[in-house]
Amino acid sequence: MTKPRAAVLISGRGSNMMSLIEAASAPDYPVEIAVVISNRPEAHGLARAQACNIPTRTLDHKAHADRAAFDAALHAVLEEEQADFVCLAGFMRLLTAGFVEKWQGRMINIHPALLPSYKGLHTHERALADGVKIHGATVHFVTPEMDVGPIIMQAAVPVLEGDTPDSLGARVLAQEHVIYPAALRLVAEGRARITEGRVAIDEFEIAPPALVVPPAG
Ligand code: GAR
Repeated sequence: MTKPRAAVLISGRGSNMMSLIEAASAPDYPVEIAVVISNRPEAHGLARAQACNIPTRTLDHKAHADRAAFDAALHAVLEEEQADFVCLAGFMRLLTAGFVEKWQGRMINIHPALLPSYKGLHTHERALADGVKIHGATVHFVTPEMDVGPIIMQAAVPVLEGDTPDSLGARVLAQEHVIYPAALRLVAEGRARITEGRVAIDEFEIAPPALVVPPAG
């Protein structure tokens, strides 16, 4: 039986992409990682995907006149690749509302914070500056407004005494790698249903949709 096809969009090192590729290598995973697309030719994740025999495409945003032109080209590539789902994995580019609407309900993103707190960039620095005691990561459906789409899954980690943005970021990233494959599984199986802007999960069997990680040591 052929599996639905996911395209993973990256801009950099691609560690979340790798977590999706690794999960999808299991025979019972319900979706295939069909292609990795980067808007940056120099993205390290491209070589990592190729080493796993995943086809890659580069769509340099600098070669396009504006956002609309880039998004039209991206949509064409996704159609060509017969993508059923789109996973933004460190894809550091805003998408136009027109593009997002075409993929609504089929495009998901991972964000390094417990949304709706800390939308945007520098989430770990901002969490430390605020002195929050819990931080984390969120997988959500993408809607035209940045970082506000319906939440599928979150993982919370403690903020520890002496944390730096790097140490906190590493703790969060380790959980990103757990929840992103789990969330994509739910979406691909049609078990994450959007109702009135919120996600309801049908019969959850693999892990709780919110993961609270106990402090180390
Ligand atoms: C990840 O922490 C991801 O959550 C974040 O970029 C990093 C990419 O790392 N995404 C965003 O900030 C999107 N707003 P990766 O390339 O190793 O997956």
